[in-house]
Amino acid sequence: MKILATRPLPSSALERLRREAVVESYPEDETMPYEALLSAVAPCDGLICVLTDRIDAAVLAAAPRLKVVSTVAAGTDNIDLRAAAARKIVVTNTPDALTETTADLTWALLLATARRVVEADQALRRGEFRAWQLMGHLGFDVHGKTLGIVGLGRIGRAVARRARGFGMRVLYHNRSRVPDEVEAELGAEWVTLETLLESSHVVSLHTPLTKATHHMIDENALARMRSDAILINVGRGPVVDEAALVTALRGQRIAGAGLDVYEREPELSAGLIELSNTVLLPHIGSASHETRGRMADQAVNDCLAVLAGRAPTHPVKLS
Ligand code: GLV
Repeated sequence: MKILATRPLPSSALERLRREAVVESYPEDETMPYEALLSAVAPCDGLICVLTDRIDAAVLAAAPRLKVVSTVAAGTDNIDLRAAAARKIVVTNTPDALTETTADLTWALLLATARRVVEADQALRRGEFRAWQLMGHLGFDVHGKTLGIVGLGRIGRAVARRARGFGMRVLYHNRSRVPDEVEAELGAEWVTLETLLESSHVVSLHTPLTKATHHMIDENALARMRSDAILINVGRGPVVDEAALVTALRGQRIAGAGLDVYEREPELSAGLIELSNTVLLPHIGSASHETRGRMADQAVNDCLAVLAGRAPTHPVKLS
C-alpha cells in the first residue's frame, strides 16, 4: 500500500502510517506544488492532504488506485467531492477534533479586536507607554452585547456556549433552524441574516464555503451592520467580499474586523494590512499542539481504516 502525505505529519501519526504502508511525505510545511502532487499521487492508494491542496478531478484521475482522501481539516471546499464520489473515492475530514480549539481562537480574535489588544501591544513595544491614559486605546465592551453567529454548526455552537460567560444575547442564522433543545441550551435565537446583521455588535462567521455562502458578506450585508459592530471570520475567506470589507473598514462603516482567513490566502486584499481597526491572523484557528496532533491522528486512522476495508469515523457526505 502506498500513501502520500502532502505535509510532514507529527511523528506519532507518521510512525503509525509507516507501520501499515509505504509513505511518501512532502518534506516542507508549505503547499506541495500542484504538478508535484499530480505525479506523486499517481501510484497511491491513499492521500493525506490539507486545506491548501487543490484536490480536483485531475488529481483524482491521476491516481487510478486511489481509494481514500483524508484531509487534516474540517473544511472540504478544496476537494472536488463530486469527482471523488464518481470514482468511489472516500473522503474523510476531522471536524470534531478542532471544534473547541477553533472556538477558543474565535474568542481570542473577538476580544482582541473589540479591545484593540494588538494595537495597544504594538504601541507599548514602540515605547509609547509613557503614562496611563484616561482616553487612550478605547475599544468596545463585549459583555452584555449581542453576538450574531452565522452558521450554527459545531464551531458556531461552541462559540455560542462561551458567550454565556460574557452575558451576551446570542442570535444565529443558519440554513435551517437547529432543534428547540439546542436553541434552549445555547440561549440562541434564530433570526434572518438581515436581522442578525442589523442587530449584532459582533458578527461571527462559521459557515462552510459553498456556492451559496460565497460573498455572503458583501457590500450590502456590510451596509446593514451597525457602525459600532465588528466582524469576525474564522471560517473561510471567500464568504466575505474582502474588497468591500476594506472599503467599509476604511470608511469606518463598521468598527473593526478580526480575520483568521482571507479570500485569496496567503494574499491579503490591498489596504487590509494598513488598517488599524483590524486584527489579522495567518489562519491559525485549530493551531494548538493538542488539536493538530489529534487531527493528524484522526486523518491517519480514517485513511488506514478505508484501506483496510473498514468504515471511517468521519466520512464526508455530498450535500
Ligand atoms: C481549518 O480551516 C479547517 O477547515 O480545518
